[in-house]
Amino acid sequence: MPDLRLPKTIAWVGGLDGQVELVDQTLLPGELKMLACRDVEAIREAIVSLRVRGAPAIGVAAAMGLVLGVRDAADADSDGFWARLRETRERLASARPTAVNLCWALERMEALAQRLADRPVAEIKQALLDEARRIRDEDAEMCRKIGQAGQHLIRENTGVLTHCNAGSLATAEYGTALALLYAAHERGRRFRVYADETRPLLQGSRLTAWELSRAGIDVTVLCDNAAGELMREGRIQTVVTGADRIVANGDTANKIGTYSVAVIARAHGIPFYVAAPSSTFDFSTSDGAKIPIEHRSGDEVRAGFGRLTAPAEVPVYSPAFDVTPASLISGIVTERGVIDPVGPENIRDFFGL
Ligand code: MRU
Repeated sequence: MPDLRLPKTIAWVGGLDGQVELVDQTLLPGELKMLACRDVEAIREAIVSLRVRGAPAIGVAAAMGLVLGVRDAADADSDGFWARLRETRERLASARPTAVNLCWALERMEALAQRLADRPVAEIKQALLDEARRIRDEDAEMCRKIGQAGQHLIRENTGVLTHCNAGSLATAEYGTALALLYAAHERGRRFRVYADETRPLLQGSRLTAWELSRAGIDVTVLCDNAAGELMREGRIQTVVTGADRIVANGDTANKIGTYSVAVIARAHGIPFYVAAPSSTFDFSTSDGAKIPIEHRSGDEVRAGFGRLTAPAEVPVYSPAFDVTPASLISGIVTERGVIDPVGPENIRDFFGL
């Protein structure tokens, strides 16, 4: 991968007494500022407020948050350490419900601690920090591989629509959907990206457009409701998005509006791809109807950026995610290759389950 001229989304800096440093994504594109988090509540607040967001990045944040939660537990008090671990895990797990990476990372951290249960507390703490760093590094590597596995889908002189931000900012590095674009760009291919603005919090225009333009990729922003018209005009040949949770039958939760994009893409005969690492698959949930969907404050719609744009007294219905049925998905790009067609048997075979 080339140097994308992008900051590291999230990193643990220093030893066990160090801190988590993350890009405060609520300030972009106006300001690029790192936020230092030194305790669980700071990390939880960063996840809830979308300072750090995107399924894989939330997973990394949760893993590092768990270390922040246990590191001050007394080394001589084993019961106290385990109680703190459980408490921290529950606190972080409740931050956001839809992206499965959050619980996936917490479960992986806890499983490691359990395996080391007979070791001194100080040793378990250090192992947890090493594991959190490993989760970050593995995520970057998975994203790099997703880019390689799916770059061929981004063809010369085509238009590519994406929704929300599934880029470097949403992961440890490179992104998922955007990794395909970075890899195609690196190979010298020319194409134009159309970034859905992504109401209400504008991850598409604030974040996707920011990181792609910084990396030298041709990107144009559109209002979400313009996507159908651009397809009708023949400007879009491929759609690629990320995912927050892909369940056993291939149904996929992603940012609200993704489902609408998939429906209009199908109506225009345009392939709709999802890109995600294996940590975003939830094999224990059978179908999309069972995915917990986060609902967010109506104020994000009513007055998202400071000015009232709907009457204060009118209720707002604000699901943060929707589910695209597997039948509308042309393929899922993972770090191990492309799942195509998308269906329960094929997914099971692909992962050797
Ligand atoms: O609410 P957000 O900004 O966390 O939503 C993010 C998305 O929907 C992304 O598309 C998804 O997490 C994939 S990120 C690689």
